[in-house]
Amino acid sequence: MIFFPDFKLFDYSKWSAMLEKRVGITVPKERESFLQTKIWSRMRELGVETFSEYWQIINNGITGNLEWSELLDRLTVHETSFFRHKPSYELVANDFSEVLSKNNKFHYKIWSVSCATGEEPYSLAMLLQTLKDGSDKENVYYGVTATDVSKPALSLGDNAYYSNDKKIEIDSEYRQHLTEVNDNIFTINKEIKERVAFGVFNLLKIHEMPNIKFDVIFCQNVLIYFSKERKIEILEGFKRFLKRGGMLILNPTDIGNWKSKNMTRITYKRTLAYKLD
Ligand SMILES: C[S@@+](CC[C@H](N)C(=O)[O-])C[C@H]1O[C@@H](n2cnc3c(N)ncnc32)[C@H](O)[C@@H]1O
Repeated sequence: MIFFPDFKLFDYSKWSAMLEKRVGITVPKERESFLQTKIWSRMRELGVETFSEYWQIINNGITGNLEWSELLDRLTVHETSFFRHKPSYELVANDFSEVLSKNNKFHYKIWSVSCATGEEPYSLAMLLQTLKDGSDKENVYYGVTATDVSKPALSLGDNAYYSNDKKIEIDSEYRQHLTEVNDNIFTINKEIKERVAFGVFNLLKIHEMPNIKFDVIFCQNVLIYFSKERKIEILEGFKRFLKRGGMLILNPTDIGNWKSKNMTRITYKRTLAYKLD
């Protein structure tokens, strides 16, 4: 039997404030029904009849945290693809090629900030590996740190099994890094997988992140869900994790005209990117 909770008792302000406070995501009032139905569909699975009962469950210590992570996975958008915004990848390729041409030994580090199910960090790793293979440099290393707030999304990324329909997103020059599992599924080669490390990370906790310096911070299609104040706070927070001359690559739709001390805007095609002076 399906329970229909009393939707009139749904407290939009309370639920949306919790989401904002815990992960920074804002759900505008026009999207109240999205919030309501996502929460309700989870309640239905658990057989919970009222929103207030489910609120208690979510806020109940460690078991509440586990349930929160289930719900969060449903409330966040994991839409992604391989090489999603090509000009941004070209920027990385240009930078890495320049470093390759000038140095015999180096370690290039990229942070794929909200990597969803892994397509983004694997695209970056395939790109760097292909450029490295095309050079005569042996002492060149690279690594991609791939983080997201959603554990289920990260676990799909770590498993690295993708539907064959997605191959179309990957240009032929990079397909050498893929292996067919069966007629429907492919996976990413071990050599690439080994260069990508997945881990849980909440952007709101940026100040707690250990101090690693990256050549590139690749942060696309997540800030769009945050308030202007949160976006600025996070963008300012990223500066601490960039090497001098390192790039912050956003998606053009992520934020309007952000200006910040020591960050110089890079003008390249339709990208939104900055370099730390
Ligand atoms: C639309 S996907 C973008 C994926 C990829 N960056 C791309 O451009 O294709 C947004 C991702 O942001 C993640 N996300 C949402 N809030 C977050 C937070 N507070 N901290 C870290 N990641 C978050 C979601 O779990 C989701 O996987």
